[in-house]
Amino acid sequence: MLITFEGIDGAGKSTHTVLLAEWLQSRGHRVRILREPGSTQLSEAIRRVLLDVQQQIDSVAELFLFCAARRQLVQEVIRPALEQGEIVICDRYADSTFAYQGYGRGLDIAMVEHVIAYAIEDVVPQATFVLDLDVATALARRGRRAADVADRMEGASRQFFERVRAGYHALAARNPQRVHLLDAAEPVEGLQERIRTIVAGILARQSAERVA
Ligand code: TYD
Repeated sequence: MLITFEGIDGAGKSTHTVLLAEWLQSRGHRVRILREPGSTQLSEAIRRVLLDVQQQIDSVAELFLFCAARRQLVQEVIRPALEQGEIVICDRYADSTFAYQGYGRGLDIAMVEHVIAYAIEDVVPQATFVLDLDVATALARRGRRAADVADRMEGASRQFFERVRAGYHALAARNPQRVHLLDAAEPVEGLQERIRTIVAGILARQSAERVA
């Protein structure tokens, strides 16, 4: 099973990724946590280029770089792990490209979706949690993180992040089965509980299907 976390920078994805992984491990599942862009040697090299403030990157080139990093991760790590029955939890995945490059950068949505689909093929998440937060709060949270120097993506304007957030809302509206839009302003415990309930439901359905 592939589970992904999404949201604008500062919404708390990493916290929930780790909490969910710990819970699943405690229930006996083999779990692998990945982050995007990154988690393979090539994808981490592409990540360094993408986040480097010295780089001037054209929006379409940026789209291809994120998708190149993801393609390598899918082929090298995610697909084999899923075939081995592991649960893969990804801190960002394809929907980040939809929201950031599609809505944030304003690229043609149909073209963006086509490139994403070409890169990931059938490796689509069973559940995606969008941690939704108003942009001002997210930027303030991010600003409080210790010694954080803004990377190339984080240097974008507030309007950019407003568009990204709107992209996530559109994504959730279009994929009500898969995408769960959650209020990231809620306390961590309650939110994590809701995430676990949804994941438990999917796991129960999967084992019922295996028995049938
Ligand atoms: P990261 O440090 O992982 O951000 P965060 O801690 O907020 O998850 O950096 C990834 C940055 O790249 C983040 O600003 C979102 C952006 N991004 C895209 O624009 N498109 C993508 O497809 C992905 C995966 C990330």
